[in-house]
Amino acid sequence: MQNDLFDAAPEAGQETVAGRAAVLRRELERHSYAYYVLDTPTIPDAEYDRLFSELQRLEQDYPELRTPDSPTQRVGGAALPEFSQVQHAVPMLSLNNGFEDEDVLAFDKRVKEGLDMPETSEIAYAIDLKFDGLAINLRYEDGLFTRAATRGDGYTGEDVTENIRTIRSIPLRLNTANPPAVLDVRGEVLMFKQDFDKLNQRQRDAGAKEFANPRNAAAGSLRQLDSKITAQRKLRFFAYGIGALDGAERPESHRDLLAWYAALGLPVCAENAVVAGAQGLLDFYRSIQQKRDGLGYEIDGVVYKVNSFTQQEQLGFVSRAPRFAIAHKFPAQEALTTVSGIDIQVGRTGALTPVARLAPVFVGGVTVTNATLHNEDEVRRKDVRIGDTVIVRRAGDVIPEVVAVVLERRPQPEPAAFEMLKTCPVCGSHVVREEGEAVARCTGGLSCSAQRKEAIRHFASRKMMDIDGLGERYIDTLVDLNIVKGIADLYQLQLSDLLEMKRQADLRDGVTPETVLQGKVASKWAENLIAAIAASKQPPLERLLFALGIRHVGESTAKTLADYLGSLALIRQVPACIFRILPDIGATVAWSLAEFFSQPQNQQAIQALIDAKVEARDEKAVNPKLRDKLEPAVLLAALDIPKLTLARCKQLTERGIGLEELAELDTDSFTVLGLPVDVQQSLSQWLQQGTHRQDIRDLHVLRLSLLEQMAGQVLEEGHLSGKTFVLTGTLAELSRDQAKALIEAAGGKVSGSVSKKTHYLVAGTEAGSKLEKAQELGIPILTEADLLQLCSRS
Ligand code: IVH
Repeated sequence: MQNDLFDAAPEAGQETVAGRAAVLRRELERHSYAYYVLDTPTIPDAEYDRLFSELQRLEQDYPELRTPDSPTQRVGGAALPEFSQVQHAVPMLSLNNGFEDEDVLAFDKRVKEGLDMPETSEIAYAIDLKFDGLAINLRYEDGLFTRAATRGDGYTGEDVTENIRTIRSIPLRLNTANPPAVLDVRGEVLMFKQDFDKLNQRQRDAGAKEFANPRNAAAGSLRQLDSKITAQRKLRFFAYGIGALDGAERPESHRDLLAWYAALGLPVCAENAVVAGAQGLLDFYRSIQQKRDGLGYEIDGVVYKVNSFTQQEQLGFVSRAPRFAIAHKFPAQEALTTVSGIDIQVGRTGALTPVARLAPVFVGGVTVTNATLHNEDEVRRKDVRIGDTVIVRRAGDVIPEVVAVVLERRPQPEPAAFEMLKTCPVCGSHVVREEGEAVARCTGGLSCSAQRKEAIRHFASRKMMDIDGLGERYIDTLVDLNIVKGIADLYQLQLSDLLEMKRQADLRDGVTPETVLQGKVASKWAENLIAAIAASKQPPLERLLFALGIRHVGESTAKTLADYLGSLALIRQVPACIFRILPDIGATVAWSLAEFFSQPQNQQAIQALIDAKVEARDEKAVNPKLRDKLEPAVLLAALDIPKLTLARCKQLTERGIGLEELAELDTDSFTVLGLPVDVQQSLSQWLQQGTHRQDIRDLHVLRLSLLEQMAGQVLEEGHLSGKTFVLTGTLAELSRDQAKALIEAAGGKVSGSVSKKTHYLVAGTEAGSKLEKAQELGIPILTEADLLQLCSRS
């Protein structure tokens, strides 16, 4: 195939109208094929649209030029009163299912017996994915698509020709000079996950009901009497079988059939194989199981078919299923069950999460008894009520969730709609839901035992203080018994506390060991736990910060804080704007940090940790890297005063108004500043509010003291000192700021444009003109991995 975008352009005067229409049809179909079947677009969308409208116009002016295979016929036609019935020339049968390896071994054994082959021989099997969509028969007569029918009961289906015509990947004419008189192509209509997500987003935006899964969405879209609706739904198709064939040789095997289909321009899934024997089948099954989540569409298993058609005929059918094929299904990811209750769980930050309690159901390979409902809005949107029958889904390692309610099965009289609690179910504190937030929160803070438990769990976990052996059950009991009220109490635990805790927990759960009843108490575990707690006392600062459980503060923010500010003593006392000037820390995170340290109970908890000798082992002085960030204009901008952008702040400081001056500024003298009136007003209002003037004075003092602390220190010369880098494109792991920080930490400089003085260009995806320029100048190009390696080398 050629790839010239504009080979459909008319050559002046040489073409007839009919010729032009034919060229357009062919070109448009060629681009559709490249886009939908080969997944490699050959033309910009706008250009496609232009050619499409040109063809539409021609067909309007010359209706006799409108052919049934014209791409203009894909947009949907008049709505039908009902679907008419179609009898299948060759019945569309079903498949037997297997779930276990034994089922597959038994199938292979039956096949060999049926073919009179020795037990030790290996059959050639073709494997397809088992697509989770709808089976369909496409009829082509002399190469032209003429009719499509659903499977129905296998013998008679519904005529969905007009809807199928809207599916772009299905050719309206087969790509061959020698088409068979009749060909019935069989395969699956499905919706890709990405198109499903977009469809549901549109449904949500329109206030319409969402589809439970891509299969339902595909079915709903295909069964539209109005094909214009189907045309908007982005359905796909994969061919995998054959019905009637007249006027061509039948291929010799399933593999040959798929190859022939691909050559005819029909979409065939690339994930298929021919393997030898049962072991080959099982190996493929496992490899697909691994890949499953990464596929663009849903599958519910794989289908094994004896490859040779001669052998298939020899084996034949039993009742309605072939002997030569079997579907090896994955454990179902969705199941029906009933909701016995909706509980509210309280998380570390006080977030209240509704959780559906379910009648136990086996799904995704495990028994599920509860599923998250995420938040209040989600429960309302799905309208989940106690007593409802629901579809539960557990895909891969994802936590189980309620997909949808089966409304027809709602009990009568109707149970009440869900309402979020007004008070915390654990501590009784007030519940608030801030504006713009989806989450309702308990306001009890650490006085709420649920939040305390979660905070301790977070503190002790692997990536934080890493206290081995302190699991959820022990933490819950220690808090319930009031032995541990806060994180620092962990460091006061005595052997006797732990033994008492375990005795009570065992008693509560009815699992007191026989030996304890006989008076023997094992204490080795408790000694180990106390040792583990003691061993956690000197963590790196970034881990200690992360462990404190400050909202919005994850691993990387904690690292930045530790790197720049150096000590908890400093971090716990600086105002929000100091956090705000650090790389990658925005207003939300900065305010959350300041808010955390402003709470007396948090300061007490930190003090208690220090008193218990929990201290970061790598505390250091402020990093001299902070010096640049302490520019008065930068600090001013970090105060987030409305309308006062960094540029405006620079304007102020350039006119001699730094922090000190601003604190004492007389609002009347504003006119001399040269700031626009609205900015002046905003600033003067801000200055008059609360303690703002005093805050700036304090900030000024803090700034001077920080600068003084850094006075004697020089920025350590890194191994990249003197080297200039330019960043372009998007990096996969690092943000721009992070990449910059990394380079600077190693002593390098980052510049915005490429010149002869650039030492390295770091190029991510979608790198543009900078990359070209660097290539022209022969500047070494680094990938993200190269950069990481270069920076880590000391
Ligand atoms: S072959 C005679 N291949 O499974 C064999 N079926 O239980 C006919 N299906 O209704 C089916 N992917 O919707 C075959 N690669 C595949 C399939 C597949 C999905 C569905 C199809 C059919 C059902 C049979």
